[in-house]
Amino acid sequence: MQAAEDLQPDTTGIARAAALLCAGQLVALPSETVYGLAADATQDDAVAAIYAAKGRPDFNPLIVHLPDLDSAMTIAMFPGHAHALAEAFWPGPLTLVLPLRPGHGLSARVTAGHATVAIRLPAHPVMQAVLSAAQRPIAAPSANLSGRISATTAAHVRAGLGGRIAAILDGGPTPVGVESTILAPSAEGTRLLREGAIPREAITPITGPLTADTTPGARVEAPGQLASHYAPHTLLLCGGTPQPGEVTIGFGTAKGDLSLSEQGDLTEAAARLFATLHNADALAQSRGATAIRVADIPDTGLGRAINDRLRRAAAPGPFSV
Ligand code: TXA
Ligand code: MG
Repeated sequence: MQAAEDLQPDTTGIARAAALLCAGQLVALPSETVYGLAADATQDDAVAAIYAAKGRPDFNPLIVHLPDLDSAMTIAMFPGHAHALAEAFWPGPLTLVLPLRPGHGLSARVTAGHATVAIRLPAHPVMQAVLSAAQRPIAAPSANLSGRISATTAAHVRAGLGGRIAAILDGGPTPVGVESTILAPSAEGTRLLREGAIPREAITPITGPLTADTTPGARVEAPGQLASHYAPHTLLLCGGTPQPGEVTIGFGTAKGDLSLSEQGDLTEAAARLFATLHNADALAQSRGATAIRVADIPDTGLGRAINDRLRRAAAPGPFSV
């Protein structure tokens, strides 16, 4: 395939992205969390092309992005606290795993055969504009090769997937920087399937206590929550004392070659997390470093999502060195 078309977030670029999606092509789109690799969720072949481009196992279902709550309610049921959560956080970086309604019209490949579907109403104006122009549900996993670091800029997408997709809509760096929080609400309670951009502290006042453990090795609730994920090419170490020959990533008063946030601000650290991992990886390769070491990050608020991604990036797996 040729190099991906470079689209701008203007009327022409948005119309072109929507036309390509309707024609069954793959387009990378900016969301408020990370870039998504988008396809028409109603076309089997288009959805199959997402799995092929990412090298993603086909048992790992995709998130469906929709423009509004009405369209979400035609596709899925809203048990337990689902409606209250949608009211509180949509549009925004929350994904709800909900029971499918009959006649939902989605390709079975989107849900990998599950009786549930993951739904999100994104808040990014460019993604919203494409959703309204395309007039159909859009499946979009993060726009990175499977198991690799998520993309928060169009350049990251191009480096990972540029030769495998039709176009990249460049909306600039994504503002939040970590993926959506994934919840599965039911009549019995709400399970936390993935830590993400909306911290637990904001969710539990609505849901009460959450019932799931997302620590590595816990039962896999979201099939994509494999222990090893988000892997740089270089060995990643979390905490501990920096050794000679390592590339270091600091936070707050802990200085490093790079820093997630010199102010020790978790929102800034989340926004910079994946770009910093990409940069540290490049620096490590150019220096021939043995490892990348990240300073300790407080495990509160957005820090939990940051630590979750760092633990997975550090976990031994198919890409470990
Ligand atoms: O912020 C985000 O969520 C980004 C943007 C592009 O929206 N998307 C994203 O997609 O992170 P992805 O594919 O990288 O992660 C989706 C996660 C996977 O872990 C997958 O297993 C889980 O959602 N998932 C999808 N459908 C599910 C279902 N029916 N039941 C349980 N988990 C599901
Ligand atoms: Mg992902």
